[in-house]
Amino acid sequence: MSVLKIATVFINIYFLNAVVVVPTIKLNTGYEVPVLGLGTYNDTSQVMIDTIQSAIAIGYRHIDTAELYGNEQDIGKGLALAIASGAVKRADVFITTKITPEKKDRKLALEAVRVALGKLQTTYVDLMLIHWPAGNVSDIYAGLEDAVDQKLVRSIGVSNFDAPALQALLKTARVKPAMNQIEIHPNTNQDETVALCQKEGVAVTGYSPLGTGSLLKEPHLVAISKAHTRSAAQVALRWQIQRGLVTIPKTTHKDRLNENINVFDFKLTDSEMKTIHDIKK
Ligand SMILES: *[C@@H]1O[C@H](CO)[C@@H](O)[C@H](O)[C@H]1NC(C)=O
Ligand SMILES: *[C@@H]1O[C@H](CO)[C@@H](O)[C@H](O)[C@H]1NC(C)=O
Repeated sequence: MSVLKIATVFINIYFLNAVVVVPTIKLNTGYEVPVLGLGTYNDTSQVMIDTIQSAIAIGYRHIDTAELYGNEQDIGKGLALAIASGAVKRADVFITTKITPEKKDRKLALEAVRVALGKLQTTYVDLMLIHWPAGNVSDIYAGLEDAVDQKLVRSIGVSNFDAPALQALLKTARVKPAMNQIEIHPNTNQDETVALCQKEGVAVTGYSPLGTGSLLKEPHLVAISKAHTRSAAQVALRWQIQRGLVTIPKTTHKDRLNENINVFDFKLTDSEMKTIHDIKK
């Protein structure tokens, strides 16, 4: 090990417990979103309440949830405790949630926003998405536009919309979607959808950034992570952020919360970015 590498490892360990300041990008509504947030898929109960407080303590200021995950109530409790303890102010946390489209119309979508606000113990959410394209999307989306008018949500958008689905919505939307949240990791680049979003000024969040199965053992990813004395997970997250995307790794483990957020003190080269992009399934 070179002296430089030993120094890097030391610095990584030293800063592991420091509060990380996550950079933001500006949405087309003018609001800023931290480029790294906490994914919370299906984690509930006390574990979720505790995870929110741990995450806030180390610098997470963006939390992603959904009606489907059944944890908005727990996240609301965790946030309320963090706010009451003085760890954070509501205005400093970016909350994203999503409504399930099935059986909803304009009126029921607006009602679902109010239900989410109650569970999250807040008077507004920063970003409300339609979880996937189903039902009468333009009508459901109109309910979210009503929620913007009523100041219940600051920005609205979609999730799991491919390029044609997004294009269809762009034709009818009165309030332009601010975000499309889709699955992105080095096996699933989503180039076409990302390109359309970037052309239209719609920000992109990648979920499941660490992929599934053996992605983190992929030889190119492992080689690049060794070159930076980082984990493969940190390199996969850094790749998304350097693509100009928002990323929301999910974990309830404290060491992983720390690992995932410590990706703002190293940089991948253009050639490393391309190598990761070209990783095949
Ligand atoms: C997540 O929760 C939903 C709703 O309860 C359930 O349908 C789904 O099977 C869960 N997924 C996993 C991986 O546990
Ligand atoms: C969607 O809802 C709108 C508003 O109610 C309606 O005008 C339109 O016909 C609906 N589209 C479909 C395909 O049902």
